[in-house]
Amino acid sequence: MPQPDKKIIERVKELRDKINYHNYRYYVLDSPEISDAEYDRLFDELSELEKKYPELITPDSPTQRVGPAPLEEFKTVRHTLAMLSLNKATSERELLDFHRRVQELSGISENEIKYTAEPKFDGLAVEVIYHGGVLTTGATRGDGLVGEDVTLNLRTVKSIPLKLLGNEIPELIEVRGEVIMNKEDFARLNKEREKAGEPLFANPRNAAAGSVRQLDPRITSTRPLNMFAYGIGRIEGKTLTNHWETLLYLKKLGFRVSQYTELCTNIDQVRAYYKKILEIRNDLPYEIDGIVIKVNDFDLQHKLGELSRSPRWAVAWKFPPQQENTVVKDIIVSVGRTGALTPVAILEPVRVGGVEVSRATLHNEDEVKKKDIRIGDTVLVQRAGDVIPEVVKVIKSKRTGKEKVFTMPERCPVCGSKVERLEGEAVHRCTGMACPAQIKENLAHFASKGAMDIDGLGFKFLEQLVDKRIIKDPADLYFLKNEDLMKMDRMGDKLAENLLNAIDKSRKPDLTSLIYALGIRNVGYHLAGVLAKNFKSIDNLAGQSVEDLKRIHEIGPIVAESIYNFFHNPKNLKILEKLKKGGVKFPVEEEGPEQKPLSGQTFVLTGSLESFTRDEARRIIESMGGRVSSSVSKNTDFVVVGKDPGSKYDRAMSLGIKTLNEDEFKKMVGQ
Ligand code: IVH
Repeated sequence: MPQPDKKIIERVKELRDKINYHNYRYYVLDSPEISDAEYDRLFDELSELEKKYPELITPDSPTQRVGPAPLEEFKTVRHTLAMLSLNKATSERELLDFHRRVQELSGISENEIKYTAEPKFDGLAVEVIYHGGVLTTGATRGDGLVGEDVTLNLRTVKSIPLKLLGNEIPELIEVRGEVIMNKEDFARLNKEREKAGEPLFANPRNAAAGSVRQLDPRITSTRPLNMFAYGIGRIEGKTLTNHWETLLYLKKLGFRVSQYTELCTNIDQVRAYYKKILEIRNDLPYEIDGIVIKVNDFDLQHKLGELSRSPRWAVAWKFPPQQENTVVKDIIVSVGRTGALTPVAILEPVRVGGVEVSRATLHNEDEVKKKDIRIGDTVLVQRAGDVIPEVVKVIKSKRTGKEKVFTMPERCPVCGSKVERLEGEAVHRCTGMACPAQIKENLAHFASKGAMDIDGLGFKFLEQLVDKRIIKDPADLYFLKNEDLMKMDRMGDKLAENLLNAIDKSRKPDLTSLIYALGIRNVGYHLAGVLAKNFKSIDNLAGQSVEDLKRIHEIGPIVAESIYNFFHNPKNLKILEKLKKGGVKFPVEEEGPEQKPLSGQTFVLTGSLESFTRDEARRIIESMGGRVSSSVSKNTDFVVVGKDPGSKYDRAMSLGIKTLNEDEFKKMVGQ
């Protein structure tokens, strides 16, 4: 085996330090200094050298984050200092009670007590132990006294340093913090799991905890985890006198410490902090469920001591829960554009996380049965981030026996046609060709932005047009006359003229918009673009067999079948003919590479934009020939950065990809 010379030993050390430092810039500070490619080069060089000279491998080497094989079970770790839990306050009153007790027990007057205020992260509490600056043990909190040895897993969390940074390395330090998963990463992970047919995680906390308590560290290493450090256990070789100083010190050692931590010099500041954090709570990339207030001074902490399992020097002031109990007043059935019947729970209105909730989708009959939701039941509802409210479970102990079991109607509640459920499908559908509910939804889709984009033709209008039997399909819009519109409520000459102009303007759609507007099942705007690009005209598209369609990348058997069925339904063919008669131009796209302003450019969107929804921004980009991708890679040309961007922004920075703020983006797309 070759022997490393001094130069190689030094280079290995240098590479290790460099990589650890850049890791820290990327994962802890969110501010990388080098590109991913440069980082990879350093990493590859180190891996090569370690392969050649295995004796140079050390546990703190960045190549050693993932262990070799799964464990049979976790060993246990006894915490040398108990990992305490926190007393809770759920109101300002209870916060003031805490503050009063602190004063009474310490004998210190009101305005001389300093507190630190921090977010209360909703994840899994862990402890990481460093000897001589090197990570040796990682453990879960467990019951506070004994936890599980999850060292191999925590080594894969990039914001946990394998080796401490700076020049004030203590002989020993036990760092405590919370492992969390960002909301966006959680959603992505669940989407992947759904595709793979794996069970979904209920929330980011479960996903983080499940990932840390996973016997195969190789799986943990694929999970996007983060740790926020919020305290210490034992420490040797360094004296710290208060919590604020400790947090600054942890930052220096390379840990991620919340930027929202504040030092409060009186209780009013704590109150203001609570209000501020509650307000930004839903905008944070991760979930928090309150704030934690800690007496800052360590001497004072000791004096106050602890009571059973929780200290008297700290309190968790919890936010109002994002889950609430309420009663299902009724279960109604709504009918969508494709005739799908969706059961919807009508709830006794309740505020959940600051928003009033009065309905929750129950998805389909199987879901209602699985959760056994009955009319009259008391249920737990939740709203996670910007997700539609959902019923988590029934509170069975509240049942009186008077609850009514829900069954899917046999007839469509809107048109009375038979309802059927095809084999293998979870949804029930109305079979009525002339079902007004379907017609209205269909029309609204046809006229919407991205489709025919008929300005001013909102749902309420379309509803009247259908109810007054003026129109019954999208093509009828192109035969409307002023006198038809005058039959509508609150219609005037000017408004009618504007509407007719808007309808006229829509007679010249681009091919993608026209295909999208037709409302072919399973064909969204993106796929409409794919079809337009490949088939160049409606007539050509209509003539394709299922096999031909399946040959196109991105078109699977289900979509191919829907497209084929659409163009082989006589009713639809009649509407297409009628659209032509009504003056709608069916565009034929030129052969040859299409050249649009954004052709060949790939965009990624992150954060929220003020002037558009994500979908609108996507449609604008695609209509100009660009592509929108969900993740940033070296093939990305631009990352559009809205308010509160997620990790995609960090990745863009680290890859050196051009970012556009909303104004720059608007300029680029000429809005
Ligand atoms: S300090 C004695 N700080 O809350 C202090 N805990 O109920 C012990 N948590 O198990 C913990 N964010 O999982 C502290 N900023 C924060 C926290 C925090 C979340 C969790 C932690 C702990 C639980 C206590």
